[in-house]
Amino acid sequence: MRKPFSQACENNRGPICQILERVLADKNTILEIGSGTGQHAVWFAKKMPHLHWQTSDRIENHSGIKQWLADASLSNLAAPLTLDVSQFDWPQGKYDGAFSANTAHIMSWPEAQQMVCGVASMLADGGIFALYGPMQYSGVIEADSNRAFNARLKAQNQQQGIREFNDLNALASSQGLILCEDNPMPANNRLLVWQKANNNISAC
Ligand SMILES: C[S@@+](CC[C@H](N)C(=O)[O-])C[C@H]1O[C@@H](n2cnc3c(N)ncnc32)[C@H](O)[C@@H]1O
Repeated sequence: MRKPFSQACENNRGPICQILERVLADKNTILEIGSGTGQHAVWFAKKMPHLHWQTSDRIENHSGIKQWLADASLSNLAAPLTLDVSQFDWPQGKYDGAFSANTAHIMSWPEAQQMVCGVASMLADGGIFALYGPMQYSGVIEADSNRAFNARLKAQNQQQGIREFNDLNALASSQGLILCEDNPMPANNRLLVWQKANNNISAC
């Protein structure tokens, strides 16, 4: 199989990394959900050597991710876990960070909900969840390009679609994740950052 390549990853990795470097500065173990090609993982693990970056995805993407990991040969980057959010046995409190890019609109809404709930259960207290992608706010998709993208998603699969920020955040909040940041990103994307609260750590 040819090594997969995503131009979008090349374009967005820099702006995403600038924020991750700040919010993950004191974190150690990160689980990425839906690693895709593996390009983000390679870039972020290289730029943040203090992190142990665990890739994951559904099995069909593993061979591509492994090719990127083999070429990068980084000691802080781990081979992909088989992780479908609808079936995964989330290890309680094992990670202090989670990252996912461009997944919530590809998953069905029940799957996106399972991702948020699973991440909340898996994070240690004070842990960070960073979610990147296009969002809609109070039912409005602002950018023309995102409205067209949403229409294409729905035409190919009715279950897919750009997710509502308020729904995601209400669910996250019900699971103990406190919204710390909603960052505007290039190409009409957002990077949402939640922190798992506990009694001793005031979130954010
Ligand atoms: C558009 S790709 C994004 C890949 C990569 N994160 C990026 O930004 O380029 C969507 C990813 O979500 C993953 N995905 C879709 N449904 C999933 C599910 N139920 N559980 C876990 N991953 C899922 C796909 O396998 C794919 O890797």
